[in-house]
Amino acid sequence: MEFPVELRIMSERMVEGISSSDMTESAKELSRKYMQESGTGKPLLTKDKEALVYSLMRMPATFGAVAAALRQICEVSDFVPRSLLDAGAGTGAGSWAANSFFNLDKITCLEREGAMENVGKAFMRESDEPALNSAEWIHTDLSENFGGKYPSDLVIASYVLNEMSMEDRMKTVEKLWENTKQVLLIVEPGTPVGFKNIREIRDYLLKQGAYMMAPCPHSAYCHIKEYDWCHFTCRVQRGKLHRLVKAADVPYEDEKFSYVAFCRMECQTSNTRIMRHPVIEKGRVRLTLCTEDIGIIEETVTKKDGEQYKKAKKSACGDAF
Ligand SMILES: C[S@@+](CC[C@H](N)C(=O)[O-])C[C@H]1O[C@@H](n2cnc3c(N)ncnc32)[C@H](O)[C@@H]1O
Repeated sequence: MEFPVELRIMSERMVEGISSSDMTESAKELSRKYMQESGTGKPLLTKDKEALVYSLMRMPATFGAVAAALRQICEVSDFVPRSLLDAGAGTGAGSWAANSFFNLDKITCLEREGAMENVGKAFMRESDEPALNSAEWIHTDLSENFGGKYPSDLVIASYVLNEMSMEDRMKTVEKLWENTKQVLLIVEPGTPVGFKNIREIRDYLLKQGAYMMAPCPHSAYCHIKEYDWCHFTCRVQRGKLHRLVKAADVPYEDEKFSYVAFCRMECQTSNTRIMRHPVIEKGRVRLTLCTEDIGIIEETVTKKDGEQYKKAKKSACGDAF
């Protein structure tokens, strides 16, 4: 799913008054804050310039990650949400991604930082999409009590829980689940820390009776080793300005993300999922698969396997197999 052109144009237009050297500095400062201060609950994106630079530098990647996770969810279910709760909506990437998959009637965005909210609202107000255009923005802190206040078919928290302290994170997950009528999707950075959060949330929600939807093919013990982490990658095109600020040579970036999606009702999961980039060799493809009943296995598919071989050659990390 491509990042919407209208959104790229809007975010480039919004930063017109900021010099590229200023943007480069802000982008560096944001990276530093995320490296050093994430996971503490400290506000990281508070100034107007930071929110604008965030939208330019990060929105394509967070949109891409949410869209990739939603694509994997849609492969295993025919889930049709009408309402969305975007928690820690920031500048709205998760809502734009969900709106490009589903015919939504109602979007509710919860956000604590006025600067992020203003940019996110401005983008949505300019959209021709009715659900985005009429989205309700609620200025709130997720660590406060909002349990059951915003019941929605789909609840998304993308790249937000990693910013919170561990205590607030699990309390927030509980509240997100209380507001989930059908599906809860949590997306985190594809790093060891991001995956650790996902694993803890997975364990917690399965104990609460949530049903696994994706990416795991099972609800049993997760066989990923302590030093390893489950993550996927999506390729995102960089706009001209993005390349300039990042001094990037290539016109794309590969965003790594970890995610988990739960359903209120028992639902279909994939039987196996490809966990690493398939290694294509002459006449064979080597796959690392997470399986429903025998944990994580290495599988080699050869030409003799006919259709399976053709499928394996075309497959990518994250695909159901
Ligand atoms: C990295 S941004 C992600 C934004 C958006 N979800 C995305 O995927 O692009 C994290 C957002 O979560 C918000 N946030 C962090 N902690 C929060 C809290 N306790 N309550 C409400 N919003 C919070 C931040 O203000 C920021 O806008």
